[in-house]
Amino acid sequence: MYDVQKIRADFPILSREVNGKPLVYLDNGASAQKPKVVIDAITKGYAEEYANVHRGLHYLSNLATEKYESVRGTIAKFLNAASEDEIVLNSGTTEGINMVAYGWAMPRLQAGDEIILSVMEHHANIVPWHFLRERQGVVLKWVDVAADGSLDPQAVLDAITPKTKLIAITQCSNVLGTMVDVKAITTGAHAVGVPVLVDGSQGSVHAPVDVQDINCDFYAITGHKLYGPSGSGAIFVKKDRMAEMRPFIGGGDMIKEVSKDTVIYNDPPMKFEAGTPGIVQTIGLGVALDYLMEVGMDNIAAHENALRDYAAAKFKGLNWLNIQGHAAGKAAIFSMTLQGAAHAHDISTILDKRGVAVRAGHHCAGPLMDHLGVSATCRASFGMYNTTQDVDTLVDALELAHDLLA
Ligand code: ALA
Repeated sequence: MYDVQKIRADFPILSREVNGKPLVYLDNGASAQKPKVVIDAITKGYAEEYANVHRGLHYLSNLATEKYESVRGTIAKFLNAASEDEIVLNSGTTEGINMVAYGWAMPRLQAGDEIILSVMEHHANIVPWHFLRERQGVVLKWVDVAADGSLDPQAVLDAITPKTKLIAITQCSNVLGTMVDVKAITTGAHAVGVPVLVDGSQGSVHAPVDVQDINCDFYAITGHKLYGPSGSGAIFVKKDRMAEMRPFIGGGDMIKEVSKDTVIYNDPPMKFEAGTPGIVQTIGLGVALDYLMEVGMDNIAAHENALRDYAAAKFKGLNWLNIQGHAAGKAAIFSMTLQGAAHAHDISTILDKRGVAVRAGHHCAGPLMDHLGVSATCRASFGMYNTTQDVDTLVDALELAHDLLA
């Protein structure tokens, strides 16, 4: 039995007020709040166990290294990767996708080669590919979503040509909540030798992930959306792809030897991790993932899906509310506009006065906004600690916004 009140009690911030009202935090798509176990781990990491990793031979350095390195295994378990050697630790999805763009794609792709993207990608899974377009003449091919916001895997596969070198696709739209059948895409793409990168920034938060089952080549996650610290994250890279990849950032830790004339790199995955990493952030991410696995990602998915259905039923009664994206099986993410000229920023300001935190704007998804024909939406994104009461408060606040702005 999923005890949401028990879970809420694990998150200290949820008991605070905002603008004199109890906080209703519905901006989980932007960043999730942190359970006390994560906050405590960060405090302990700095107060009692801090030193640099992989460098010293002293007690604290060994302790920090051990704790930091153990997170690689925790992430492998969370993603069901075959080996922790397939996990590159980093600061989040943006760094992970840039690593693939610079380290794997740049040396391999030439002018005229094609990368397939969906129109609902986040800028983190667009701009690194624009670099290849600008600098190397790589062609970006865009696949549209259907009117309900769903993405037909076959439409992605139909875009493949002999020039296609990569498909880079989100598992879950941060705007529409659409979940993508990435396994169908990898199956079809691999049949014709095309690798697939999955942006798991949102997808990994809402449902269990199994990278062996998906069989993707790259799967990027970000810690701060997974109830962990900001500045933490990882990317799963299949062994064969890892062997093809050249280092992205150079510096300490990613080398075995450096002389005036040569450099010998460390073995993967450390070959792709340069400089002092986010030590305590990564340790905090490990604690967050253990917390999620203890609650159970299946249980979290079921809870959020029930919230999604409850919210969708409530929204149906508001005939002045436009929700973007109705794909079956979507995550509990609702981007909305009010009929009339109300701007998303004004709506979110009114909601904020009621203690309801949502994101307003383009959500780092320019091509999707163009596709939808809107410049901004107001987005409520639910997490593991949200309740049906949060939905009710949101609906009341939206009614107020409608009264004031319509
Ligand atoms: N990617 C984050 C969002 O969707 C910041 O809000």
